[in-house]
Amino acid sequence: MRTQFCGLVDERLIGQTVTLCGWADVARDLGGVCFIDLRDHEGIVQIVAEPSDAAGNAEVIAAASKVGYEDCLRITGTVRARHSVNDRIATGKVEVVATKIEVLNKAEPLPFHAHENPGEDIRLRYRYLDLRRPEMQTMMRTRIKLVAALRRYLDERGFQDIETPILTKATPEGARDFLVPARMHPGEFYALPQSPQLFKQILMMAGFDRYYQIARCFRDEALRADRQLEFTQLDMEFAWVSERDVQDTVEDMIRSVFREVIGVELDAQFPRMTYAEAMRRYGSDKPDLRIAMEFTDIAELVKTCEFKVFSDWANHADGRVIALRAPGGAQFSRKQIDELGAHAAKYGAKGVAWMKVEDAAKGREGINSPIAKFLDDATLDAILRETRANTGDAIFFGAATYKVASDFMGALRLKLGKDLGLVENAWRPLWVTDFPMFEWDEEAQRYVALHHPFTAPSVDDEADLRANAATAVSRGYDMVLNGNEIGGGSIRIHRSSMQSAVFDLLGIGREEAELKFGFLLEALRYGAPPHGGIAFGIDRIAALMAGTESIRDVIPFPKTTGAQCLMTGAPSPIPDAQLAEVHVAVRPREAKAE
Ligand code: AMO
Ligand code: AMP
Repeated sequence: MRTQFCGLVDERLIGQTVTLCGWADVARDLGGVCFIDLRDHEGIVQIVAEPSDAAGNAEVIAAASKVGYEDCLRITGTVRARHSVNDRIATGKVEVVATKIEVLNKAEPLPFHAHENPGEDIRLRYRYLDLRRPEMQTMMRTRIKLVAALRRYLDERGFQDIETPILTKATPEGARDFLVPARMHPGEFYALPQSPQLFKQILMMAGFDRYYQIARCFRDEALRADRQLEFTQLDMEFAWVSERDVQDTVEDMIRSVFREVIGVELDAQFPRMTYAEAMRRYGSDKPDLRIAMEFTDIAELVKTCEFKVFSDWANHADGRVIALRAPGGAQFSRKQIDELGAHAAKYGAKGVAWMKVEDAAKGREGINSPIAKFLDDATLDAILRETRANTGDAIFFGAATYKVASDFMGALRLKLGKDLGLVENAWRPLWVTDFPMFEWDEEAQRYVALHHPFTAPSVDDEADLRANAATAVSRGYDMVLNGNEIGGGSIRIHRSSMQSAVFDLLGIGREEAELKFGFLLEALRYGAPPHGGIAFGIDRIAALMAGTESIRDVIPFPKTTGAQCLMTGAPSPIPDAQLAEVHVAVRPREAKAE
């Protein structure tokens, strides 16, 4: 149908006849001369329809004058040098003088134009038009290159790409399962995998040694900019390894794909930080190291102060009082400070006390703060000294339980970094390690696994683990990049008795464990090798590489935050007859889940 791609027509073709296919990006009729910007996946080239001696030219001009946005066209013409060179496009030195214009398919008036960026709902409803936009094409291509680079890297190193089932049994990763009714087994259901976790472990027991898969995972959880119901992992597992073996390999892989796909050279060695240190310094298990601001713990300074909120939490066994210096923060208006407080409130803050350092040399006189009156001179001095506050800075304070104070001050730190323009333009990867094995769930009154229940504890002995469950550390690790958790993994439990002990500590009784994970416990008894692995969020890495905030921009057909596909209309009701076939009856319509 065509001899060339629009975006690749260049000076070498001057004088030649070409046939191009594409969409009318722009069409202008200047009265007697028409210009069409013809666009395909490679780019745009200018088409001219102008009077000439050639017979039939009037027809070409007439056709060109009728062309509308996004009409699907096939155009034949002669390439010539352009009078006024357009440096903004790759084909800007040439144009094509049309001798034939065929409208292959006329486009109806568009819901939006390719040059606009309308609301996301409209874009998702007409996703095919949205994806035609060069910006979207570029972002999708980044993802495609990333996946190709990952595959190449792993194939060259002997990793084996093996598929695992989509219709399976629940594999818990801490989210709700998607269920599929089993027609042949009335009342029974398959679950879609939250990850291939158990299958990849079993592949190690089955002797495959090194596995990878670009795997779709399904998790019925609240959606956000970095979370979808279905998303893609680069899933990996290694037999006979320790943490360092896994980490060194995948760190090299990530460095290699960043170099290849976007030409970025990441640190030769990623820094490592324990979970405890990350929480202490940044209030997050995925700290954004592009922001230099760090917490100062001031519980010791305010134990006896008159500000009750501080002294109460400072004396509380699980309390924390944090000061956070915001360089240049004294410029904040009252309104801005209130907005910062409202932001922290979303993360559990009951309030955020503040202090503006208007003149550090003047001591108390130079401080503007509603809480200064509750702090004696020595305490005030110590706070300024320990936070290293200077004239022009602000200090924000959070007091609560260790977890809550860390969370909301961590969120505040990120917002301050953005608002004050203190986010370094850089790539800052790191490993976060030594996660707690368990987290206490107040509501359920039991432990839950911080990674997943198959993660090995740092101790080998079950009795030891049982005796120190509250403080036990796991052999899990996360890779973090610019404040995003891009990958998470662990060394696994490879002995059945330890796996049973962990189920037990998680409140999964023997019977339930047997029912849900009997196959795993059994497989572990037949000589399972030590093994471990990791999974990376492909969507998240692609979004970072493409420079977009939302993974929806690198997923061709994503769901909205309301968990719908606006293009197809999924999810949708199913006729009763079809439901009956799979032995399902729908309950009277309940209020929609949020
Ligand atoms: P985890 O649950 O940490 O580990 O997932 C691994 C990585 O997948 C990405 N990710 C997501 N991306 C988009 N939308 C989501 N809803 C979503 N959830 C997770 C993140 C995350 O780091 N089986 C283990 C891995 C292992 O232990 O080997 C697992 O799934 O980038
Ligand atoms: P109040 O005495 O409640 O008016 O609070 C005085 C100041 O302390 C206000 O700026 C509040 O935002 C702040 N504040 C209240 N609770 C906390 C808390 N838990 N941590 C930090 N600051 C708080």
